[in-house]
Amino acid sequence: MRYLIANLKMNLISYEENISYLTTLLDVAKRNRRVGVKTSLVICPSFPFLSLFQKKLPKRLFLGAQDVAFSERGAYTGYVPARSLADNGASFVLIGHSESRRYGGDTNERISEKIRLSVRNGLRPVLCVGESAAERAAGQTALVIRRQISEALHDISSEEWTRGIIAYEPCWAIGTDHIPRSDDILEVSIAIRRTLVEILDRTLAQSVPILYGGSVNVERISEVCLAPGLSGVLVGRESLLPEELLAMVSALDA
Ligand code: PGA
Repeated sequence: MRYLIANLKMNLISYEENISYLTTLLDVAKRNRRVGVKTSLVICPSFPFLSLFQKKLPKRLFLGAQDVAFSERGAYTGYVPARSLADNGASFVLIGHSESRRYGGDTNERISEKIRLSVRNGLRPVLCVGESAAERAAGQTALVIRRQISEALHDISSEEWTRGIIAYEPCWAIGTDHIPRSDDILEVSIAIRRTLVEILDRTLAQSVPILYGGSVNVERISEVCLAPGLSGVLVGRESLLPEELLAMVSALDA
């Protein structure tokens, strides 16, 4: 199975914007019924609109959340726990996105808690990892990715991680129109796989889906997917365009 995870971020802010996006998406999906047989399309709206998407999305599309609280319940003003996400239709959740690390103060320790609570509540965690431009320039990419994964999964058992997904998203490629060469993506995905093999049950580690994210669009998707071993993509800006979104799903299906 392949995956296209559409991260709408904080781009659709009003009810009108969300309903108009949904209406177009549903229309495009209806016209492309055959698209997505081999690819799960996961839409991640902002928290307040999860239940709206839950009501409107056809069964073959999936719903994801953009983040999750690091605690189960209690005095955590402003946070949204895993249970609430699941009860509002989410089946996937992004964890450790570079914007959550930067603005939300996510540490690898916190990310680990988020993974545990998500799994406990039936959500599929999508752990996002990636190096900064400075780390890349210093030749530290593999080291950084390795640390992010091993610290995030440090306390997570193979049973807990059974349905987990890793998204490699170099910070310098997000929102910039720069993407790594497919050779570079391949190199990082090998480093990810190696790290997983050291931490998890071997068979499970070999089967964990690895996605690429950062400036993916219709023109670049085939280039990105040239890197063997990839199971799909995580898309930001381009997911705001439903026609393009379905065209990318079709490219992944091929
Ligand atoms: P982008 O964002 O596709 O707009 O670069 C990707 C992401 O942040 O997940």
